[in-house]
Amino acid sequence: IIPFHYRRWEAKYEYKFLDCYKKLAITINGETPGPTIIAQQGDTIVVDLKNSLLTENVAIHWHGIRQIGTPWSDGTEGLTQCPSLPGEIHTYKFVVDRAGTFLYHAHYGMQRSAGLYGSIHVSVPNGVTEPFSYDYDKNIILNDWYHQSTYEQATGLSSIPFVWVGEPQSLLIQGRGRYNCSVLSTSSIEAGLCNTTNPDCSPYSMTVVSGKTYRLRISSLTSLSALNFEIEGHNMTVVEADGHYVQPLIIKNLNIYSGETYSVLVKADQDPSRNYWAAVNVIGRQPQTPTGLGIFNYYPNHPLKSPTTTPPTGPLWNDSDYRFAQSLAIKARQGYIDPPPQNSDRVITLLNTQNRIDGYTKWAVNNVSFVFPNTPYLIALKENLTDTFDQSSPPENYDSANYDIYSIAKNPNATYSNGIYRLEFNSTVDIVLQNANTMNANNSETHPWHLHGHDFWVLGYGKGKFDSVNDPKKYNLINPIKKNTVPLHTFGWTALRFQANNPGVWAFHCHIESHFYMGMGVVFEEGVERVGKLPTSIMGCGETKS
Ligand code: C2O
Ligand code: CU
Repeated sequence: IIPFHYRRWEAKYEYKFLDCYKKLAITINGETPGPTIIAQQGDTIVVDLKNSLLTENVAIHWHGIRQIGTPWSDGTEGLTQCPSLPGEIHTYKFVVDRAGTFLYHAHYGMQRSAGLYGSIHVSVPNGVTEPFSYDYDKNIILNDWYHQSTYEQATGLSSIPFVWVGEPQSLLIQGRGRYNCSVLSTSSIEAGLCNTTNPDCSPYSMTVVSGKTYRLRISSLTSLSALNFEIEGHNMTVVEADGHYVQPLIIKNLNIYSGETYSVLVKADQDPSRNYWAAVNVIGRQPQTPTGLGIFNYYPNHPLKSPTTTPPTGPLWNDSDYRFAQSLAIKARQGYIDPPPQNSDRVITLLNTQNRIDGYTKWAVNNVSFVFPNTPYLIALKENLTDTFDQSSPPENYDSANYDIYSIAKNPNATYSNGIYRLEFNSTVDIVLQNANTMNANNSETHPWHLHGHDFWVLGYGKGKFDSVNDPKKYNLINPIKKNTVPLHTFGWTALRFQANNPGVWAFHCHIESHFYMGMGVVFEEGVERVGKLPTSIMGCGETKS
């Protein structure tokens, strides 16, 4: 085997009927989800991405890949590269240095929501065995799906009055869903707009053989929804999260937040004379989207034969105790624990709030709503273009003594900034994410926070306001899981620790597409002086035009 994977990809808009409703989707080589990259730890991946979107730029982020030594291949438009223009071919080259389940997706505007995403599976090196066994390996990406274009969504979000994207029309299992066409008034719709006979419009079906064990690599790339995944009548054992082994945890259903990946083992140990539902339900927000359904098909039953049973409806959408409990139950696997440093050098507390700035609705951390610079930070910092972004550091904390997280955000002094946190190279940094009430009474949302370029230890989750004296004493410093994406639960806090040891510029943001678009993110820089010579392929915008 040559440890080098070369791929030629073409990104293009095509009409698809993923949930039976005709919609333009961005495909890679004709597919959404795009092709799965299957590689082995240590391999080099080279992707030549051709932008055939005609009137739209593009950038692809390799979610969960740390890009050690190649920060310019992180694919984050505005941070690590200029966007690629229509007709251009952009080359991404990086090493997959750790086994596990990862993702890729567009990282430009709200483009991910248009369907540009897929999976990366990295297997362990030859001679290394995993601490669990299974007969087959299957991939399931969960997503939510909107019928509006990302442009309509983005325009609404940045208008006065504000137009919210609303709840998704469908939930997709590996790119397949089913919209209820009968709710459309047929007289007014274009012929063929909702086409239940289109071959795209058939449920995801996974065929299993009785007695065999399946590793399901389940990930979520939803634009908005937190999800619960369940296979009717079957337990699952969680064994991996974001590329790290989990102390085996048996569950009936899995809560999964946008940007997370899990491997679960499922044994086909039920009555093999019938099929079972695979069901995805919205949690954390009052569902207005029907259950997403796929078929767990026992060979030799027909793969599309619907079970006659009622599909699982998942836990109560507002059962936050259930979600906290499952988050807390995920621990690093014995024998594979990478212990965190016992202390940190810096603590950054980030209050998550909804804000209004000049009449626009925004999300902010510590009352600062993030805006992108025109010149990507990585280039600006390497080339000393200090006038391209705000040189002052965003706040390290918020006025916690005087802030009531349970009342409607008052939004004092909310501002825009493109300032960044500059971290001392090799220092240990703690992040405390603090949730709060939104602009609606008695409402707090779940935010999945994703860090580029690193894995962090999840030191703890709590309810209410973080107590900076007592809560750190309860941190799990023994067997915390390492992840790259973690939920911040409603009215709660989440504490993380990471080492700033990867030279580059890295986004840390809410993985909800509209929240990040509305400013819910920050940027970290560390060791940028150690970054090698930047490829000219990432330049061409802002102050980098040559
Ligand atoms: Cu998967 Cu910055 O995102
Ligand atoms: Cu969010």
